[in-house]
Amino acid sequence: MYVCICNEVTDKAIKHATDSGISSMKDLQNSLNVGTSCGRCSSCAKKLLKEYLSSTVTMELNAI
Ligand code: FES
Repeated sequence: MYVCICNEVTDKAIKHATDSGISSMKDLQNSLNVGTSCGRCSSCAKKLLKEYLSSTVTMELNAI
């Protein structure tokens, strides 16, 4: 699903970015340009970032 129409950023791209070590909205903006045009997607992108980061932490904790 597209999260950012302006910059054609999908939820999968955000997931891939978090899997690659992106951990802040600023880094996500620098990496994918999400939220850098009209800004309407910023809250959704932040929500997904938070969700994906918490699932990554859970997965890492389960691997211990
Ligand atoms: S929809 Fe993401 S910047 Fe416009």
